Order: sequence, then structure tokens, then C-alpha cells
Amino acid sequence: MSASHARSVRVRLAERSYAIELGVGSLGGLGEAVRARLGATRALILSVPPVGRRYGAAVTRSLRAAGFRVKRFEVPDGERSKNLRQAERLYGEMLEAGADRGSSVVIALGGGVVGDLGGFVAATLFRGLPVVQVPTSLLSMVDSSVGGKTGVNVAQGKNLVGAFHQPSLVWIDAATLRTLPPRQLRSGMAEVVKHAAIWDARLFSRLERQLEPLLALDPDVLVPILERNCRIKASVVSRDEREGGFRMLLNYGHTLGHAVESLKGYRGVLHGEAVSMGMVYAAALSERLGKAPEGTRERLEALLRRVGLPTKLPSFERRAYLRALSVDKKKRDSRIRFVALRGIGEAETVPLLPREILPAGALTRQC
Ligand code: GLY
Repeated sequence: MSASHARSVRVRLAERSYAIELGVGSLGGLGEAVRARLGATRALILSVPPVGRRYGAAVTRSLRAAGFRVKRFEVPDGERSKNLRQAERLYGEMLEAGADRGSSVVIALGGGVVGDLGGFVAATLFRGLPVVQVPTSLLSMVDSSVGGKTGVNVAQGKNLVGAFHQPSLVWIDAATLRTLPPRQLRSGMAEVVKHAAIWDARLFSRLERQLEPLLALDPDVLVPILERNCRIKASVVSRDEREGGFRMLLNYGHTLGHAVESLKGYRGVLHGEAVSMGMVYAAALSERLGKAPEGTRERLEALLRRVGLPTKLPSFERRAYLRALSVDKKKRDSRIRFVALRGIGEAETVPLLPREILPAGALTRQC
């Protein structure tokens, strides 16, 4: 591992504080890092087959060398594995493998699905085992592995069952991005652009300047940008762990993004792609509401297009979008805390009715 690329970011949450350790080629150091932080002696590694094949052996070796007894578990790749059936199967397999309250730690090795499901199993087995997040996708490095949101999907919607369960450590080896499919990399970039759009105008300009070396995963560009994103996420989570208000800013682009994912039945569109469309729509609405100066949408859309992300909402009827926005009929008249931009680098929440988010004609105008 190159020492010049090692970075550490602290998530400050009193007794639940933890470190995000960033490096390039750093997977081999995981075992020692876990041993230094936790009293555990048994490591339960969860991954999906493609990630397990690539990195499972290195992670196992590192943990064994640090004195851990190691067992590996897998779920099928994809969002459809994030359910209670898989969680129940994992409880059974982990218990059979000797998991116990005092000495076990869950290692979630993979992207968002493994992080959310592994975190949920850790939060609930024995009412809470420690979890170490080892994210291998861009989306999970900059977003889902940090902040303690864990959960599974149920028939009524995504992430409706879950728990806040902060990890004991987040261990990021940026070299794992080299084996991430390009479409997944672009999808993760949506969350990077989101952080810049809501919080950090300088980061936004930097993305505009350095996009090509970033997408080519040049470590000198990639690592500082990963670090900045982790700092933004850490600081939002430290201020509002349970999403009482402030953390909602991280939902920028997600109101319409979730509607798109749900209307598409979670098929054919990746999370970041849907968020990209939702962010452009939200920027246009922010301009219409007089919250953001003219040109905000144009600048955001130009960057997302250069990343290779879609920026136009798919053409479902307005009725269908409105239904998707108010999942529960009883809530049809309640307001959604819509995240609007004040400009590039600043955001606020605005309480809006679904019909105010999607006024008549908005879909043809794309706002
Ligand atoms: N991904 C949004 C959050 O962690 O709050």
C-alpha cells in the first residue's frame, strides 16, 4: 500500500465514534486494524460471489494472520438479496458456524447491498454484533458504508425495515474500484456529485476540472476526492445521526430518484442513475421556486452528462409519478421535505405537496 495515499476520517458520535480508513492496496492491513479496535476473535465475512471470488481470500488471509477464526458467507448479487429471507438464512448459518455475542464481528465486504444487509444482520443477531464495513463500490465508499443506516426491503418498499447501527470501522481500499463495472462506477459518481452540489462548491469545481483522471481512477485525484466525500458524509452524520432534519439534505435527488426506481420495478436503472435524473429535476424546480439562481440546473446537468449519467426522467404519466411520491394513500395530502438547491454547494429542505413537486406540465418541461 502506498503510504502517501493513506487517509483517516473520524465520524464523531460520542461513544459510537469510529474511523474511516482510506488507502490504495490496503486490504492486507484489515486484520490488524480490526484486532487493534475490537476484542473479537471470530470474523464472519459476508459478500456476494463476484466480490468474494476477487477479494475473499485476501481478506481471510489478513484476518487469520491477525489471529481471527474466519467463516465466509454469501448472498446472491443484487438488490433482490436485501430481504428478510436472506437475513434469516444468514442468522441460521452464522449460528451454526459458532457465532456468539462476545467474540464475533461481521465483516461486510462489498457494495451497498452487502453493507445494508450485513449491517442489519449485525444489528439484530444477539441484539447487536459489531460490524466492520469494507466497501468495494464507489457508492458504498462515499455513502452507504458510513452513517449506520442498515436494512432490508419488503414488498411495500425499499429499506422499510432496518436499524441504525454504526460500524466499528470503515476500511476503504480504493484499488478495489479497478474491478468495478464502469456502469457501477458512474452510478456511484452520482452520490459524489450530490455531495458537492449540496455542500461544497469547491468540490464541484474540482470535479469539473478533474473528471477524466477521476474516472480513470488516478489515485492522486481519486483518494483526495474520496476523502473529501467521506468528510462531508461524516460531518452530516455527526450533526444528525438519526435524520431528525439536517441529514435529510443527503436525500437530494432521491425523491424523484426513488419514484423512478419504483416505477421501473427496480429493473434496468441503477440507484445513481435514478438519483442523477432526480437531481437535475430538483435543480430545475429549485430555480422555478426562486431558490437557486438561473444556470444551476445547466451546470449540474452538464457535469452529470460528462460522467455518462442519464439526466432526463423516464416518461411515465404524471399520475403514476404522483402515486409513487405518495406511497401511502393516507398521506396523499401530507408534505414531503423536498431537498432544493440554493445554488451549487448549498441546499435546504422545503415542505411541498406531491402536486407542487410535479405541477401540471412539469414532466414535459422536465420541471
Ligand atoms: N444515504 C443517505 C444517508 O445516509 O442518510
